[in-house]
Amino acid sequence: MKGGLFVVGLLVAALVGAVAASTEAVRRPVVPAMFVLGDSTLDVGNNNHLPGKDVPRANQPFYGVDFPGSAIATGRFSNGYNIADFIARYLGFEKSPLAYLVLKSRNYLIPSALTRGVSYASAGAGILDSTSAGNSIPLSKQVRYFAATKAEMEAVAGRGNVSRLLARSFFLLGVGSNDLFQSTATTQGDVIALYTTLISNYTAAINDLYVMGARKFGVISVSPLGCVPAVRVLNVTGACNDAMNQIAMGFTATLKSALAGLAQKLPCLAYSLGDSFAALETNFSNPQAAGYVSVDSACCGSGRLGAEGGYCTRNSKLCADHDAYVYWDWIHATQRAAELGAQALFNEGPAQVTAPISFGQLADER
Ligand SMILES: *[C@@H]1O[C@H](CO)[C@@H](O)[C@H](O)[C@H]1NC(C)=O
Ligand SMILES: *[C@@H]1O[C@H](CO)[C@@H](O)[C@H](O)[C@H]1NC(C)=O
Ligand SMILES: *[C@@H]1O[C@H](CO)[C@@H](O)[C@H](O)[C@H]1NC(C)=O
Ligand SMILES: *[C@@H]1O[C@H](CO)[C@@H](O)[C@H](O)[C@H]1NC(C)=O
Repeated sequence: MKGGLFVVGLLVAALVGAVAASTEAVRRPVVPAMFVLGDSTLDVGNNNHLPGKDVPRANQPFYGVDFPGSAIATGRFSNGYNIADFIARYLGFEKSPLAYLVLKSRNYLIPSALTRGVSYASAGAGILDSTSAGNSIPLSKQVRYFAATKAEMEAVAGRGNVSRLLARSFFLLGVGSNDLFQSTATTQGDVIALYTTLISNYTAAINDLYVMGARKFGVISVSPLGCVPAVRVLNVTGACNDAMNQIAMGFTATLKSALAGLAQKLPCLAYSLGDSFAALETNFSNPQAAGYVSVDSACCGSGRLGAEGGYCTRNSKLCADHDAYVYWDWIHATQRAAELGAQALFNEGPAQVTAPISFGQLADER
């Protein structure tokens, strides 16, 4: 593992993961609400409300150019919906619950929390507070925002009602890629120590949510970080960075056993771990079958692999067929890849990417 982790300075988040095919219909929600904690793969606008010039924000074209109904930049790092939206749709909602900071600013937090849920996800966020420090809402703070939400919910609806609602709600978590991207670990020993710190803080956050009443956890692990255009472009051949992918896979393996351990300790905790790595890999090897013409370039960007100019901007070049690309910008998935990814998490595609149960089975559990 020579070379270890790249410090990819500005890299902010994780790409989504997974890929599969076809559509799903909005039906009656199978869970009372959905609470989302994580990074840019799930952010639906929290960062638009964070102060600071270095905060990563997807609040300008060409982000949102295909956003259903309005074609506006909402804060999602995508041309349209992100994977949180598609998971929400599978659960029977129209799209992801709104961002916590948006709901706060509109004085609409509690009505949303009681009927649909809340998203705390923030681009750049890490499991560690030191990751993107000052420019995102780290996981620990997202958990505190949830605690504050819960207290307000109880004041309005009563403790018993809130406790019943939370126990049946879907908690979607997706974080860790930024910690891996920004780490300076180089030796095998450093990487193992990093896993230990990350997993200890991740399980602490899940435990905190559990103590507050959460029972159903849909967890999306990190994706093939070494294959995002921003990393590929660093190699003259445009190849994936294998060392980085190894680090991502090692993290997923560690997370897998940590979650199994938690489930043994905490009565009634149910979870599904989505391995977006496995999901994407099948499609990287046979892109045409999934309808892709490009799995290595950003649809919106500039220069080689569309990854030399950083994020997607209104001056970027756009690919002709947005759905034919896995990547929208130099790091993040297109709406189409997010849709296929969500489908794989619900195991409605051919790829089996979740363990021990699918997101759909998790949602249906009592
Ligand atoms: C990958 O590509 C296949 C087509 O080969 C597609 O059916 C599948 O849904 C895609 N996604 C995953 C996660 O396998
Ligand atoms: C780890 O988690 C705890 C509890 O959530 C938090 O207070 C602490 O700041 C975190 N540590 C780091 C290094 O991020
Ligand atoms: C709990 O919900 C029920 C049904 O909506 C409502 O009648 C009751 O007042 C609620 N309890 C409290 C303490 O608000
Ligand atoms: C670039 O990719 C090739 C595989 O195509 C690999 O052998 C080589 O080590 C990579 N170079 C760097 C600098 O990572």
